[in-house]
Amino acid sequence: MFVPLSGADITDLEKRTIMDVLNSERLALGPYLEKFQEIIKEYAGMKYALAVNSGTSALHLIIRALDFQQNQKMIVTPFTFISSANVALFEKGVPVFVDIDPHTYNLSVKNLKEFIDKDYKDDVTAFMGVDVFGVPLEWDEILKILPDKIKIIEDSCEALGGEYKGRKLGTFGKAGTYAFYPNKQITTGEGGVIVTDDEEIFDLCKSMCNQGRGKSGEWLISERLGYNYRMDEMSAALGFAQMKRIEEISSKRKEKAMNYFELFQSEERVVLPFIPQEVTSQSWFVFVLRLNLDWVSELIHIPTWVRNFDLPIKIEGKQNRKEWKELINKIRNILQTFLKKLSEKGVESKNYFYPVHLQPFYRKMFGYEEGDFPVTELISSLTFAIPFFSNISLEEQNYVYQIITDSLTEIKNETFV
Ligand SMILES: Cc1ncc(COP(=O)(O)O)c(C=O)c1O
Repeated sequence: MFVPLSGADITDLEKRTIMDVLNSERLALGPYLEKFQEIIKEYAGMKYALAVNSGTSALHLIIRALDFQQNQKMIVTPFTFISSANVALFEKGVPVFVDIDPHTYNLSVKNLKEFIDKDYKDDVTAFMGVDVFGVPLEWDEILKILPDKIKIIEDSCEALGGEYKGRKLGTFGKAGTYAFYPNKQITTGEGGVIVTDDEEIFDLCKSMCNQGRGKSGEWLISERLGYNYRMDEMSAALGFAQMKRIEEISSKRKEKAMNYFELFQSEERVVLPFIPQEVTSQSWFVFVLRLNLDWVSELIHIPTWVRNFDLPIKIEGKQNRKEWKELINKIRNILQTFLKKLSEKGVESKNYFYPVHLQPFYRKMFGYEEGDFPVTELISSLTFAIPFFSNISLEEQNYVYQIITDSLTEIKNETFV
């Protein structure tokens, strides 16, 4: 059996809607763009929605609309998809990282408080709040901690439909985003959306996504620097049809997530996703498991100060850094060996996420190395996404479970140094 990591949920409705566009020959800036924006806006409960050609474009436009400038700093988690941080670089600004909470995998409120108390200066002008894997940030706490001057953007690209204390994700900052690559809750092929209650931000983003054209719609006159970040009509039609089915799709994903919870509930070698109690609706994007560090410590030596997740990890001095790097690489090696076994037996999986600060070009630009954000590095060395999509069958989920447990048993007989 082969079970892919992800898959879209496309029915006749989606096919008919796209055919409608092709038959109309209106392939850009047509009625489906409007309809898609309308349905998203209502779903998020926001005043404005602007559909664009990717989640990255959506984040970039917001950063520009908020007047984020060269050399300014933007707080962000290092445990995210790379574009959450990259958009600061697009504007020659600097992403500054705050390490994560080892349970939620989101930026830690405690570390944020420490950063604001110790390192906050006027050049920190933006906060990119990422709801990682659809799990909400502790928004109430974050809104209390951040100085008023810092402009908040919500990267809710992975969190369409999620709710924190009854409030939809995407609505906590000046503007929020959803993304629609085919592994997302709903897809437009490629695409993203900005949601906001702020008319000025909306107008600026709308203009900049369309070559800086003004409200008059004059095609060859640009009022400001802009891009072609427009969403085309076929993508919008696909998104519109998917949104018509959002409740059905969300409940299927929830059901599949619950199946995994049931399957893995007594499997102590892995740790299941942690859903904080403030979550009134969990939006299921990916299903990420973590190798249990206690189990890993039966394969290689792991110091107790690393094994207790609730103790702060501080890497200080050359020797400590060297040992830390060796440890992280050893754990990574176990994870890679394990994931290779899954792949050989037809179960697709991926190490989710690789730390942003350790990406080759971030190391080069900023000199980051292992030990800079240890919780992110440790969690990243242990976490992996397993096949998850709304049409995954119970038979496939059972197979994934079986292969994972078998592979863990096989790993136990191997020697790691
Ligand atoms: C957290 C996060 N931010 C931003 C993006 C960017 O979206 P896109 O791939 O559509 O540019 C993604 C997409 O995977 C994401 O997961």
